[in-house]
Amino acid sequence: MRNSILGCMAFLLTASTIVAADLPVSPNGIAMYPDYMSWKVIAPSYREDKVHIRIITGNDIAVSAMRAGKNPLPDGSVLAKVAWKAEKHPNFPVATEPGAFVQVEFMVKDAKKYKDTGGWGFARFVGNNLKPYGTDAGFVAECFGCHVPVAKNDYLYTKMAKTP
Ligand code: HEC
Repeated sequence: MRNSILGCMAFLLTASTIVAADLPVSPNGIAMYPDYMSWKVIAPSYREDKVHIRIITGNDIAVSAMRAGKNPLPDGSVLAKVAWKAEKHPNFPVATEPGAFVQVEFMVKDAKKYKDTGGWGFARFVGNNLKPYGTDAGFVAECFGCHVPVAKNDYLYTKMAKTP
C-alpha cells in the first residue's frame, strides 16, 4: 500500500516535470505561463481590424499593483493578452462570442533584466500548438515599438475596466 502511494507520488512528480519541460519557450527565453486563464481579469478588448475578441489578465502582483494605482508596476508583474476570432453566436446572431483561439501574449516585468525595453520582457505563442513567435530574440523590437506611445502608462495600453 505504502509503496503504491509512493509510486503514485513519484508518477505525479514526474508528470508535472514533463508538463513544465514541455512548455513552449519564446526565442528570448520566456516560457509560456500556463495559468493565464485563472489570473484576474483586467479588461476585455476588441480589435476591429483583426476582428478579435481579447481579454487581458494579470497575475496577483500585477493586479494588486494596478488596483493600488502603481505606475510603473513592480518586478514580478505578468500580464497576458489572449485573443480569439470573434464569431456570431449560432443561436443569437447579434451576440458575438470567442471562436477559434488565435494567440496568447505576455509582458513580464523585470526592470533590470529588460531595461532596454521599458523593463518588460515580451512573448507571444501562436495557434493551438502555441508556436513561439519570432525567429530570434530581436522580435521584441516589434512589440516594444508599438507599446512606446504608452510609455507614460508603463508601456501598457490596458487599464482596469471600470466597476462600481
Ligand atoms: C501594432 C501595435 C502592437 C504591437 C506590434 C504589439 N502590441 Fe501588444 N498591444 C497593443 C495594443 C493596442 C494593446 C491593447 C489591447 C488590445 O490590443 O486588445 C496591446 C496590449 C498588449 C498586452 C496587454 C497589456 C497592455 O499593454 O494593454 C500584452 C501582454 C501585449 N500587448 C503583448 C505584446 C507582445 C508580446 C507583442 C509582440 C509579440 C505585442 N504586444 C505587439 C498593440 C501592439
